[in-house]
Amino acid sequence: MQLIDGKAIADQVKQEIAQEVAEIKAKGGKVPHLAVIIVGHDGGSETYVAHKVKSCEQVGFKSTKIAFEADITEEELLTQIDKLNKDEDLDGFIVQLPLPKHISEQKVIEAIDYRKDVDGFHPINVGRTSIGLPSFVSATPAGILELLKRYNIETSGKHCVVIGRSNIVGKPVASLMMQKGFPGDATVTVCHSRTKNLKELCLSADIIIAALGSPNFLKADMVKEGAVIIDVGTTRVPNANTKTGWKLTGDVDFENVAPKCSFITPVPGGVGPMTICSLLKNTLLAGKKEIYK
Ligand code: GUN
Repeated sequence: MQLIDGKAIADQVKQEIAQEVAEIKAKGGKVPHLAVIIVGHDGGSETYVAHKVKSCEQVGFKSTKIAFEADITEEELLTQIDKLNKDEDLDGFIVQLPLPKHISEQKVIEAIDYRKDVDGFHPINVGRTSIGLPSFVSATPAGILELLKRYNIETSGKHCVVIGRSNIVGKPVASLMMQKGFPGDATVTVCHSRTKNLKELCLSADIIIAALGSPNFLKADMVKEGAVIIDVGTTRVPNANTKTGWKLTGDVDFENVAPKCSFITPVPGGVGPMTICSLLKNTLLAGKKEIYK
């Protein structure tokens, strides 16, 4: 069994980005500028946003954090988004999800100019990704593919089972795994809460991408010997033995599944660190106007 070290790969990718930013600076070019909007005080969101801002600093990007209280109206948030769309210094921006209930996430996502949508959530980017056109690919799916690529894990002709059908992970990662090329060319099955023969499908999988958000869901008796396991779960499970009072827990029963696998991502330290790298990569592409002029 080989552990997929997402932290090490993420550090490597960040170094590559930092190198490119240094070259842009040396030539007198403009460094990429990312803005992150956060609404309210969700603990998870605040942590993620702090990491995103810190990562921008690490690679030499300019970053702007814009925080609003949870009672901001939808109209006001949409007005602020429009300002960022028009801000010529800004290459890309994201609105951290989830949003308070009174704000439509879909309206917010569609209000972002797709040319600045470095989260890759806008329907234009989702659609372009699914038909194989250059696009901003959403961070978690892109991070997963980068891990498969850097570990040189064979995907062509393999049966890939994706558990979970979210717009952010399940659907886009399924679409990327079936696209032509490497990583890709896989035969993909998407399972979800209504799937009847989930265990049987998982047992036939060469690659399982677990992205359902149910701690320790994937058990050893659902995994074939030698399978590749990608764990996207990041649930905060209460734990009296940690300083925070919770433990980040994946969707895979790691202890029992790991001995059966050829490759497996741990939680934390697997897919998680890669997602910020993908956001940075998209921001670099936005800065260089490589996807959209
Ligand atoms: N919430 C959880 N993951 C993400 C992400 O990748 N982007 C945004 N904007 N919000 C999130």
